[in-house]
Amino acid sequence: MSAKRLLPLLTTHRSGRSPVTCEYRCGNQCSHPAPNTSDNEYFGDVVRGVMSRRGALRAGGVMAATAASFAALSGTAAAEVPALAAQPAGRRGSGRPAAGTDFEPVAPNTEDAVVVPEGYEQQVVIRWGDPVVPGAPEFDVTKQTAEAQAKQFGYNNDFVGLIPQDGSGKRNFLVVNHEYTTETEMFPEGTYDEENPTEEHARIAWAAHGLTVVQADRTPEGGLKVVPSKYNRRITLDTEFEVRGPVAGSDLLKTSADPTGTVVRGTQNNCAGGVTPWGTVLSGEENFHQYFANADKVTDPKVKAGLDRYGFEGGASTRKWERFDKRWDLGQEPNEAHRFGWVVEIDPNDPHAKPIKHTALGRFKHEAANVKIARDGRVVVYSGDDERFDYIYKFVSKGNYKPGRSAHARRHNMALLDEGTLYVAKFTGNSPAEEIDGSGTLPSDGEFDGTGEWLPLASGDESFVDGFTAEEVYVYTRLAADKVGATKMDRPEDIEPNPVNGRIYAALTNNTDRGASGEARADEPNPRNGNKNGHVLEWDEDGTGTKFVWRLLLVCGDPAAADTYFGGFDKSKVSPISCPDNVAFDGYGNLWISTDGNELGSNDGLFSVPVDGPNRGEVKQFLTVPVGAETCGPVVRDDLVLVAVQHPGEGGDPGSSWPDGGHPRPAIVAVHKTGGGRIGA
Ligand code: FEO
Ligand code: CA
Ligand code: CA
Repeated sequence: MSAKRLLPLLTTHRSGRSPVTCEYRCGNQCSHPAPNTSDNEYFGDVVRGVMSRRGALRAGGVMAATAASFAALSGTAAAEVPALAAQPAGRRGSGRPAAGTDFEPVAPNTEDAVVVPEGYEQQVVIRWGDPVVPGAPEFDVTKQTAEAQAKQFGYNNDFVGLIPQDGSGKRNFLVVNHEYTTETEMFPEGTYDEENPTEEHARIAWAAHGLTVVQADRTPEGGLKVVPSKYNRRITLDTEFEVRGPVAGSDLLKTSADPTGTVVRGTQNNCAGGVTPWGTVLSGEENFHQYFANADKVTDPKVKAGLDRYGFEGGASTRKWERFDKRWDLGQEPNEAHRFGWVVEIDPNDPHAKPIKHTALGRFKHEAANVKIARDGRVVVYSGDDERFDYIYKFVSKGNYKPGRSAHARRHNMALLDEGTLYVAKFTGNSPAEEIDGSGTLPSDGEFDGTGEWLPLASGDESFVDGFTAEEVYVYTRLAADKVGATKMDRPEDIEPNPVNGRIYAALTNNTDRGASGEARADEPNPRNGNKNGHVLEWDEDGTGTKFVWRLLLVCGDPAAADTYFGGFDKSKVSPISCPDNVAFDGYGNLWISTDGNELGSNDGLFSVPVDGPNRGEVKQFLTVPVGAETCGPVVRDDLVLVAVQHPGEGGDPGSSWPDGGHPRPAIVAVHKTGGGRIGA
C-alpha cells in the first residue's frame, strides 16, 4: 500500500491522467490557464486568410500543388516517395500487413498487466530500486534511504535509449530518464506527510531523479539482461553538469552556490530524449517549473516575466524542497530557475564524463531532442515544448558532423551543439479558413496540410528578435518565440526524423483548451477545438533550410468517430489510439507511437503505423501497459521492443500491484517473439 491522500476535488484535470499524476509530473499544468498569453494567433489568422483566398482561386489545384511541393522540398525524388500524394479516405491497403506490422493487434483493455500479442514474450529488464552500481542494496520499500537510492534505479522511467556497444548488438548501453517522483506513491502508507516531508524524503527524491546508465546484454532467449559493468552509473539531482554554449557563464545563470554560472547540480523532470548518431543521449528537462517555490517574491520585472511565461508559481512547492536547499526558493535564488529547462547530453561510453547542458538549443519545457544529419553534414536537432499552445523548435549547427563513435568523433560532435542557429516553426494551412471549423471534418482537399517556415531566433551571440539580446533569446526562448509569431500547437511532444523516408514526425498529445474562450481556435495544423485525443504531424525538409511542407498523418481518437483520420486508411480496420506522446521507428521506417492518458477508457499502449505505401495509416496496437500507467520510451529493434512503464496505478484506488504483485514499481519491459525472430514478421 502506498501513502494515499485526498486531493482537492475542485481541481479540474483535463486529461485521462489521475490527479496525483497531474500534480507530481507536471505541477498540474493542464488545470491552470496556459501560460502562453501572447496574441500571435492573430498573425496566423491573417496569413491563413491570405492563403485561403489563394486556395479559392486555385480551386482544385491545391492538392496537386501540395504533393508537388512536398516532393520538391523533400530532397527525395517524387518517384521514390510515391505515397506522398493525398489518398482518398477509406483506402483499404494491400490486404496484407505492411512489413514489420504482421501481428494480431492487442485489444483495448484495463488489465493490471503488460499485454502483448500472441506469440510474443515479455520480461522486466530493470525496475525502480534495482541495484545499479556496486554496493547498492536490494530494494526494500520500507527501508528507503537517499544513499541507497543514489545507487539504485531511479523512479518513473521515461525515455529509453539502447545503444549497441559493438556491431552484433549483443552488448548495449541502456540509458533511462527518471522523469519525476511521486512521494505519495513511493513511501509506504503513513510514512510521508505532504505538509511536512523530512529532509531524508527530499534527498531520496533528489536521488530518484536524473538518469541511469547500465550495460544490458541480449539473452539467448531474445530478451535483455542488465549486467554488472564499469559503465553502470546513476546521474541524480546532485551530479555536476557543465553548462555549454552561448549562455555558459551568463549573469542570468549565476547563483550564490555557482558564481561562475557554468556548473549546475543535477537535472530534473527528464522526459523523453534521443540517441545521437555519435552514440550519446540527449535528454529534455521538461516540467522544471514545479520544483521551485516563491516565484511571487521575485521582483526583477524581466525575471518575473520569464517565470510567468514558464508557469512558475508563488508559495510553497508541492515537494517543499525549498525547506532543505535554498536553491529551490526563487525568493532567495531567482537565477536557479534559469539553470533548468535545457537539453542535456550524457556520454554512456565514458562513465566519468561530466554531463552537459546545451544552452544553444534554447530553454523551454523540452519534451525530447532528436538529431538528423543534413545532406551538407550539419546537425539538425528537433525539439517540442510540451505545453498547451507552445511551439516546435529546431537547431542547426554551424559545423559539420564527423561520422563514427570514437572518443574524438564524440568530442567533436558534442561541441557542434554549442554553436548554431535556433529556429521556431510557423505552420500555414492550405485550405480555406471556413473549411477548418474545429470539428475535425477534413477540408475539401482531403487533408490537413500546408507549408511551414522556420523563423530564426538567434545564432551565436546574434539575436534576430526585436528587444531581445541573444542571451535573452536562449534563456527566455518562449517569450522570443511569441514575439516572432510562432504557431501555437496542441502540446508538442516527441519529434523524430524517420531514418528510412527522411521525413520528420511529431506527436501532439492533446489540448482541450483549443478553441476555449480567449484561447486560439482550431487551425489546419491543430484542427480540432477541445482536442482530447491529439494528432500526429509529419513534414519534409532536408533540415538546414527555412521552408517545409507538412500534413497530419493521424487525427487520433475512436476510429468510429467522425473527427478522426488515419492517413486515409479504412477506419474500420485500425486500432483506436489516443494521446500520442513518444515516437520511434523500426528498420522498415514504420512509426511506433506510445500514448499518455488514453481518453477512450483503455490503458495506454504502443502502436505501429506504416507511413508509406498502401498501408499508410493502418494503426495497430502492439501492447498495453498496466492500469494507471503511461507507455514511455519505446525502442523498436528488428527482434526486440522496449517500453518504459511509468507511474503504474498512480493515484488509483486500488491502484496497481505491477510488476511483482506488491508495491507498484515503474520498470522497463522487453518484448520479443517466442523463440526469437523479427518483430511483426
Ligand atoms: Fe513528460 Fe511531455 O511528457
Ligand atoms: Ca488542406
Ligand atoms: Ca512524454
